Amino acid sequence: MQVGPLQDDGYHPLVTIFQAVGLSEEVIAHQVPPGAGTSLTVDGLQADVVPADATNLAWRAAEALARHVGIDPDVRLQVVKGVPVAGGMAGGSADAAAALVACDTLWETGLPRAELARLASGLGADVAFGLVGHTAVGTGRGDVLTPAMTRGEFHWVFAVQAEGLSTPEVYRAFDETVGGTEPELGDDTALMQALRAGDAVGLGRALHNDLEAAALALRPELARTLAVAREADALGAIVSGSGPTVAALARSRQHALAIAAAWTAADACDSVWCTTAPAPGARVVAH
Ligand code: C5P
Repeated sequence: MQVGPLQDDGYHPLVTIFQAVGLSEEVIAHQVPPGAGTSLTVDGLQADVVPADATNLAWRAAEALARHVGIDPDVRLQVVKGVPVAGGMAGGSADAAAALVACDTLWETGLPRAELARLASGLGADVAFGLVGHTAVGTGRGDVLTPAMTRGEFHWVFAVQAEGLSTPEVYRAFDETVGGTEPELGDDTALMQALRAGDAVGLGRALHNDLEAAALALRPELARTLAVAREADALGAIVSGSGPTVAALARSRQHALAIAAAWTAADACDSVWCTTAPAPGARVVAH
């Protein structure tokens, strides 16, 4: 991820490659009587630290969609968390994308994907990617997406910390320490080639995140998490998004398990997740 200097709108211009991985959450949109309004419950992983009110991005997504089509936002949303909270993995954004798709289906609003994408961008920088999934180049705030071609399957391992990092704080630390220069699309050629070729070694070598130094400044112990992955021969190790989750790229499922074991043995994180990518974006799995 390349991050540019802070803009007047409070956001940073990005050139970032998103890849959706096989960790997912479920958002269920239950029908309620007309006039009941929006309500939300949160279950699953770290559910107790997720707000179950109108500040939740999934709730805001339902309201934004209802407003857009001119109906009442009557729905009971049930979010079942499966992605670490405040981990730099865009789990909340994925919920918002899923809420858009779920409510669109429940209310039979039939919005074209492009219109859902516009609503998604208004909710947060990463929500649009939550809709499309797979692998995409993000520009603008990260919400202007171009699908990227990939071959085969990549094996990722994630080191998750119990205590998250605030995205705005990481960006603030970035402004104070790094500052950023205007990001350029062409700088990601090696990474894009590796994705296209299914070349995990090349991808591992090309991994880079401009926010990493800022995340490390706020959470210095992540340096050790990165080092342990590299000692375990990870093809690449990087802070995910704004952190504190660390992502390591492995050669195989077996190698992913070995990296996970190394992290656990070194007590370098609170939990580990092995998964593969790319994975689809928000979609209806049951009706
Ligand atoms: O859009 P979202 O709510 O996900 O962003 C959270 C915060 O992260 C923003 O308020 C902003 O401080 C920061 N951010 C940024 N530049 C981006 C994306 C996010 O500064 N491109």
